[in-house]
Amino acid sequence: MSSAAIQDIDLKEFMSDPYPTLKYFRKNSPIAYVPQLNATLFSKHQDIFICEKNVEIFSSVQPDGLMTKLMGQNMMRKDGDAHIKERKAIFPTVSPKTVKNFWKNHFVEKTNKIIKNIGKKSELEIVSEFSTQVSAEALKLITGLSGMTWMEMDRVSQGMIDGCSNYIGDPAVAKNCEDCTRSIDLHIDAQLKDPNLHDNPSLLSSQLDAGLSMETIKANIKLAISGGQNEPRDAIAGTIGTLLNNDSQLKMIKSGSKSWLQAFEEYARWMSPIGMSPRRIAKDFNYREVYLYENDMIFFMFGSANRDEEI
Ligand code: HEM
Repeated sequence: MSSAAIQDIDLKEFMSDPYPTLKYFRKNSPIAYVPQLNATLFSKHQDIFICEKNVEIFSSVQPDGLMTKLMGQNMMRKDGDAHIKERKAIFPTVSPKTVKNFWKNHFVEKTNKIIKNIGKKSELEIVSEFSTQVSAEALKLITGLSGMTWMEMDRVSQGMIDGCSNYIGDPAVAKNCEDCTRSIDLHIDAQLKDPNLHDNPSLLSSQLDAGLSMETIKANIKLAISGGQNEPRDAIAGTIGTLLNNDSQLKMIKSGSKSWLQAFEEYARWMSPIGMSPRRIAKDFNYREVYLYENDMIFFMFGSANRDEEI
């Protein structure tokens, strides 16, 4: 346990709205040990900016973490060369150029179809009736798992997210997570038999081209599914919902004085789809007079850094 000031939190309150607590932390206790999370929370932008690059101390490798145990060790849980090798392997899939020149047209086509199917409804539940499907169809393309339904993509993604945050060890959540990862493995195995597998730069085909092991390929596809479904789903719905509730902002977009990209970026800053990044202290270290000990858990609170008053 680090020597940071101890700060208790009301876990229920924190889960439902972490922002007031994080504001208090930024002002009074920017590096704080929180017993309820058994972790030391970094809440200031500057500290996170400095420390997140220092992977020799703030390591992403967390063999005992739930994500590694349930989904396999993916690139986000690796440091240095091991991480770079896998980032390079997926670059042909996720490079800005590939997204613009290849995926974008497919995304637009899928989204137009979804909008057409919605028809002329006067009311719409934006998450369940629109953004979930848009996000899942895009993810099917990017991962290469074209045989999955969009509902299954959403189910397995949620199941893994629930599993990774199952700190209380609920057996039903763990069992469901296992079922979800098994479903992904089966879909990957089936897709490997597709003669047209290499017709597009999917995560499956890029990683096979790069010669990564099947274990690694599967772990990285699970990673892409765990974050790549709910983040866009919630960002699409959240941006739309926020603009519909803020007429002056919507007018700026409609008039062209602000772009959709700016709206997305501001929404993602304000509501940080990924609120925190966990790190493990690789060796004893002293940062700003706080002693951090090997295997301490650190949470970089991105959601807090994105609202830092000093930025
Ligand atoms: C609104 C959409 C998205 C947001 C806001 C978002 C945000 C993030 C953030 C903050 C991280 C770093 C997490 C950490 O350091 O702990 C991350 C990592 C990652 N995301 Fe996303 N993401 C989005 C969509 C996607 C999609 C659609 C995919 C896959 C197709 C994806 C794949 C990945 C991968 C593979 C990593 C790990 C990268 C690495 O370790 O170098 N993300 N994402």
